[in-house]
Amino acid sequence: VALPPRGLEPLLVDALRRGGAREVRRAEGRVVARFVSVGTPAAARIEALLRSALPGWTADPRWRPFDGAGWLAERGEEQVPLPGHAPLRILPGVAFGDGRHPTTRRCLGLLAERVRPGDRIADVGAGSGILAVAAARLGAREVLAVEMDPEGCRETRVNAGANGVRVRVVCHRVHPDAPGPLGDGTAGSWEGIVANLEAGVLVPLLPLLVRCLAPGGWLVVSGVLGSERKRVAGAAKALRLNHAHDDDGWWTLAFSRADPAPASG
Ligand SMILES: C[S@@+](CC[C@H](N)C(=O)[O-])C[C@H]1O[C@@H](n2cnc3c(N)ncnc32)[C@H](O)[C@@H]1O
Repeated sequence: VALPPRGLEPLLVDALRRGGAREVRRAEGRVVARFVSVGTPAAARIEALLRSALPGWTADPRWRPFDGAGWLAERGEEQVPLPGHAPLRILPGVAFGDGRHPTTRRCLGLLAERVRPGDRIADVGAGSGILAVAAARLGAREVLAVEMDPEGCRETRVNAGANGVRVRVVCHRVHPDAPGPLGDGTAGSWEGIVANLEAGVLVPLLPLLVRCLAPGGWLVVSGVLGSERKRVAGAAKALRLNHAHDDDGWWTLAFSRADPAPASG
């Protein structure tokens, strides 16, 4: 099963329990649930509960019987396409970012078009680290992954290792008053910043992200609902909006910062 983003994991566990699981536990990036007996009606009931508890959840064919007396909800390694490069390897985990969500996919495509060798790139809300790892694979000189969830930080390190790249991982909750490793924009700036975050978190952070961009730098944001699109674009109005993509109702916006006017005289 595709494991839900970390915040939704308690819902998954609750749904499995209500579905009759005698034991639910997390083990090495998997959610394992044991049932006393498994038949078609029980499986259908569990799936119905998961669907109601987790909007957008779909059964994965890799659900399989476990010890003949239960089910193992398991996610295998993902091979995620990266245009022009070998696929990314994303190992099983509980952090968001296995490469199947449309927001992640769109960000990967935009990164592939933008990252230039030698760039400094920041990924804000790295989850599994998939976008940070992609930036490094695309040739960025320095990649920073900021994530507030320690499990996501651990998985980002694992995924960087699995893909043979270096990513600086900092476990920090970015706040307008606590930019942490991003810097406050007065010293050090980034050629590119990607932030796949819900609008409620993103909008207050946008002035900071804009300040942290180098001249000519770009910003890609995703996870934005159609109803939030204008608010997000407005909060980044200091930048030029280059692209807006709608993937199944999830918007991804790509901005760039104008180069400074050439010095006169
Ligand atoms: C939707 S996931 C994106 C994961 C991955 N970048 C991707 O595109 O697939 C958002 C991540 O941002 C993290 N996050 C949310 N608010 C944050 C904040 N203020 N500072 C750092 N991380 C944050 C969450 O823990 C979550 O892992």
